Amino acid sequence: MAEIKCVGVVGAGQMGSGIAQLAATNGLDVWIMDADRDALSRATAAISSSVNRFVSKGLLSKEAGDDAMRRLRLTSNLQDLRSADIIIEAILESEDIKKKLFKELDGIAKSSAILASNTSSISITRLASATQRPTQVIGMHFMNPPPIMKLVEIIRGADTSQETFIATKALAERFGKTTVCSQDYAGFIVNRILMPMINEAFHTLYTGVATKEDIDSGMKHGTNQPMGPLELADLIGLDVCLSIMKVLHQGLGDSKYAPCPLLVQYVDAGRLGRKRGVGVYDYRKKAGTPSPRL
Ligand code: CAA
Repeated sequence: MAEIKCVGVVGAGQMGSGIAQLAATNGLDVWIMDADRDALSRATAAISSSVNRFVSKGLLSKEAGDDAMRRLRLTSNLQDLRSADIIIEAILESEDIKKKLFKELDGIAKSSAILASNTSSISITRLASATQRPTQVIGMHFMNPPPIMKLVEIIRGADTSQETFIATKALAERFGKTTVCSQDYAGFIVNRILMPMINEAFHTLYTGVATKEDIDSGMKHGTNQPMGPLELADLIGLDVCLSIMKVLHQGLGDSKYAPCPLLVQYVDAGRLGRKRGVGVYDYRKKAGTPSPRL
């Protein structure tokens, strides 16, 4: 398998931009592709601000930061990813849309290229089945926010080769990440355990056991988590949490994974979390002041 020198990232949302930043700050050339030009502009601003935070803390030299920004190339044309040695998909959590993308990427990417998905729970084996290169398809699941979180979960599909696994693991390690390897079952390791906890936090709120602030404070201070489960759901995106619960429910066939009705209702109402300015908490007001309405 060819040495990885150029990384393609599809999707310029919070995950895609964070992954592109990691690749660029670790000396790789990067193409970041999104059909939405505004998303590309937001991604550049987010990457630049994050890189500046690392520079101002002395964790990255000014030269390395400038070099990383120069390595980033933006495009709305998928064809530009043909020079990439690995393409990491970080788009919407929809199996149909991801499969369509993998089929297209299979026709564009070099024959030696790895096609990786940052999916939080969708089957890698089924994504691989949309391509003619199932041995070169793998899950590379970054945590949010990618530049800060230490883990990359690597998921082997039914046909993923050892060569693909080794190259992907080496790339995550080059990014300074700790890796864990999961077999391809719904939710993998992290979301299999994390999402039921978040869903249970919604049930705790839904059934009036406690306020959202007390639920978060209880878990934050009682179990040493950096943020409470409801705050974390807002960071991840309530739509993402709901779609992962649906994958767990359907894929593992146990009613214990049924999404909490309150989570479903918030998503129906468009309260998707920080990215929309409102989720469990209202971020449109002064930071940290919950809305009396919610
Ligand atoms: N780029 C650069 N620096 C960043 C950053 C970014 N994108 N985001 C945060 N930071 C830095 C801040 O500058 C700050 O640095 P200092 O302490 O040196 O000042 C530090 O990280 C902490 O940030 P904040 O002060 O803004 O806020 P915080 O202390 O609450 O930390 C957090 C933010 C890192 C997100 C922390 O709350 C945390 O770790 N939360 C849990 C996140 C988590 O669990 N993520 C995984 C979710 S699961 C997932 O992603 C999988 C999935 O499929 C859903």
